[in-house]
Amino acid sequence: MHTMDRMNATLEHIPVFVPRIGVDTLKHLTDALDVGWLGMGATTKEFEERIAAYLELDGRHVVATNTGTSALHIALLAAGVGPGDEVIVPSFNYVADHQAIRYTGADVVMCDIRDDDLGIDCAAARALITPRTKAIIPLHFAGIPCDRAGVYELAREFDLRVIEDACHAFGSTIDGKKIGSDGDVTCFSFDPVKIITSIDGGCVVVNSEDELARLHHLRLLGVDKDTTERYKNARAWEYDVVDQGFRYHLTNIMASVGISQIKQVDAFIASRQEICRRYSDAFSTLNGVRVLRRSYDDVSPFIYSLRVLRGQRTDLIDFLKSRNIAAGIHFMPVHEHTYFASSRRGDMRVTERVATEVVTLPLHSFMKEQSIQRVIDAVCNFFR
Ligand SMILES: Cc1ncc(COP(=O)(O)O)c(C=O)c1O
Repeated sequence: MHTMDRMNATLEHIPVFVPRIGVDTLKHLTDALDVGWLGMGATTKEFEERIAAYLELDGRHVVATNTGTSALHIALLAAGVGPGDEVIVPSFNYVADHQAIRYTGADVVMCDIRDDDLGIDCAAARALITPRTKAIIPLHFAGIPCDRAGVYELAREFDLRVIEDACHAFGSTIDGKKIGSDGDVTCFSFDPVKIITSIDGGCVVVNSEDELARLHHLRLLGVDKDTTERYKNARAWEYDVVDQGFRYHLTNIMASVGISQIKQVDAFIASRQEICRRYSDAFSTLNGVRVLRRSYDDVSPFIYSLRVLRGQRTDLIDFLKSRNIAAGIHFMPVHEHTYFASSRRGDMRVTERVATEVVTLPLHSFMKEQSIQRVIDAVCNFFR
């Protein structure tokens, strides 16, 4: 073994994601287990109420689900999306959105992104609108707000529903207001690697009581009354089944983890914003990279994404690996995947270039100072 390899082998591995699970979460979990009502119940309701309070909702409603993907699925159904409809969504995205559209029987139409915030390109989306277009799903990539005003302008002009994929953006703000606090339909994810986790989980935020009722049915096998009873840790023994439905509800146990996390969300976000600022400060002077953001005041950063130019991404990832630092890729374009290759799409010039550039560096809430510095030094050494 070379001296350098021996030295690197002794360095602690730095993963891309590290969940922040402390004794507080364990306490919430054991308390929830002690209640003896493991399924959906009063703790699920409390988690929904805490989400509503955190997002500062005024008249909007939260429905917790077992994943972000199921949130997107029932959000689309509640928005009236179904067979024969088309839904416009960026290809530069996780495939959950595209699969959720397919679950409804609607067709996926993929559009390009902007070069600056890597969010939806509204001009590109406009060019794809047809009489069949029912909805549009903008993604706030990496927690960075997309051109939301542009999306809602399109929605008004063409009478489209907007389902915001805010799975990366729990706590991000636009004009000082949290994403999800207004607009049409918003979906969040609390999966294992998100800003806050409920191990797996998600939620939908909607405006009307009717949509709330519909989501309750869709979430729990189309059964009426049961949500109200379960929120009291009880069951409705006599009920009707009023709609098609799925088994998408969030259990008390998962919700208890979510509650322990949401109590700390401001501190999680502040620590991640600070790390992102330090990364951007260090990398913005390097030749061969582009940082997405310098300021993070409005961003709840899910990941730190760096753009590596001139085809050097693989070499950078290998270099980091040799220093025991992991790196990820968000995202491979969905239109390049076999199942979605034949979906209608527009020009993908930006998506295809950006997808070869992006690399996700390690970002954890309260990441160790030593780890932050090792990531900064490694990236800087590679480009110097
Ligand atoms: C952009 C985006 N949308 C949706 C999802 C789906 O969320 P979940 O993993 O909770 O199903 C993810 C998950 O990573 C995502 O990154």
